[in-house]
Amino acid sequence: MNRIVIRSSEGEYPVLCGRGLVGRAGWLARQLPEDRTGVFLLTSPRVWRACGRTLSRALAPAQTRRILFDDRETAKELRTVERIARELVRNGADRGAVIVAAGGGVVGDVAGFAASAYMRGVRLVHVPTTLVAQVDSSIGGKTGVNLKEGKNLVGAFYPPELVVADPDLLSTLDPRQYRSGLYEVVKYAMIADPLLFDVLERTIERLIRRDDGVLDWVVARCARIKGEIVGRDERESGERQALNFGHTIGHAIEAAVGYRGILHGEAVGWGMLGVAEISREMGRLRTEDAGRIGRLVVRLGALPKLPAPGAIAKRLGSDKKARAGRVHWVLARRVGEVEINADVPDELVRETLGRLGRMPKDLAAGAAKAPRREIS
Ligand SMILES: NC(=O)c1ccc[n+]([C@@H]2O[C@H](COP(=O)([O-])OP(=O)(O)OC[C@H]3O[C@@H](n4cnc5c(N)ncnc54)[C@H](O)[C@@H]3O)[C@@H](O)[C@H]2O)c1
Ligand SMILES: [Zn+2]
Repeated sequence: MNRIVIRSSEGEYPVLCGRGLVGRAGWLARQLPEDRTGVFLLTSPRVWRACGRTLSRALAPAQTRRILFDDRETAKELRTVERIARELVRNGADRGAVIVAAGGGVVGDVAGFAASAYMRGVRLVHVPTTLVAQVDSSIGGKTGVNLKEGKNLVGAFYPPELVVADPDLLSTLDPRQYRSGLYEVVKYAMIADPLLFDVLERTIERLIRRDDGVLDWVVARCARIKGEIVGRDERESGERQALNFGHTIGHAIEAAVGYRGILHGEAVGWGMLGVAEISREMGRLRTEDAGRIGRLVVRLGALPKLPAPGAIAKRLGSDKKARAGRVHWVLARRVGEVEINADVPDELVRETLGRLGRMPKDLAAGAAKAPRREIS
């Protein structure tokens, strides 16, 4: 088992990564604070079908009440938080309650926000059950819901007391959902970890097959990277922005398709292809490194069709990360290092978006399209 300690404004909390942790009868119950007055498992019907037996055995000695809620992105809204809070009241939850949020990022964000607000805050444990949740959303304390006007616009920083990431729980995940999480894994390698990038290049096919030998190591490695970054910059005033690598274009793609048909990770996959090309064109990234990023993204499989370049461009300025009308780019400098807060000429953005849809084919064909440039 890997024990990763995360620093936060509310104190430290551990992320425990290990295969089979949640499978051990009673194990999860024994990790919960002893002075609790009740345990409330918050999860979705789908996660309950996939992982319910494991979760209830793991929590069995703790007399747990279960509250199920819809974890579709469309249900990630204030109304769901109100429903959860009312269920908590009806089930007798008081200030000593512990909420165990078991699910993907939607469950974690909604249940986490409910935990932050219920009686002005009750204790929270995350049991992430998707790859995205294990390597990303359960770590760093961001919780929240969407408004009609945009994603994640209402929320709170609310660090959990404990995160338990058990890769065994990922075995029931839909292949496309799983693969979508792998784009975020590539992102971590790109922003912070050349060794992880090398490992991915050598083992990506095994990782796609969910080979335990690789997957368990990768989950812990990414959780550690996320933990280190949010530990240094919880509120995203600087370094945490690096986590948005590939997300500037990615978010614009998601918005352009109305969050339908392209999964978040897939949009980030497109976004990383685009921004690697922009970084290369701007002389920040060597052609060789841009090629490595591109080929790794392409090896993860076919990406869904892109919306029209103009539709993506139109959404770029409305990204939450665009402050004072300026889009803040995260550019690649080399594998394992990025530059935050960069400006990119509009012309280059437009030109890159125009070519983006063809890039996977060109990369797969190994076409050398661009002359080498000197790095400043
Ligand atoms: N708080 C953060 O820092 C942060 C970071 C990244 C993403 N997010 C948020 O996370 C959400 C996306 O999360 P996600 O990618 O985990 O997707 P998700 O929560 O939508 O889950 C994807 C699907 O997988 C199902 N599922 C979950 N676990 C399963 C399992 N073990 N077996 C079978 N099915 C399972 C879910 O029911 C759902 O249908 C978005 O709302 C995003 O905004 C938050
Ligand atoms: Zn993301």
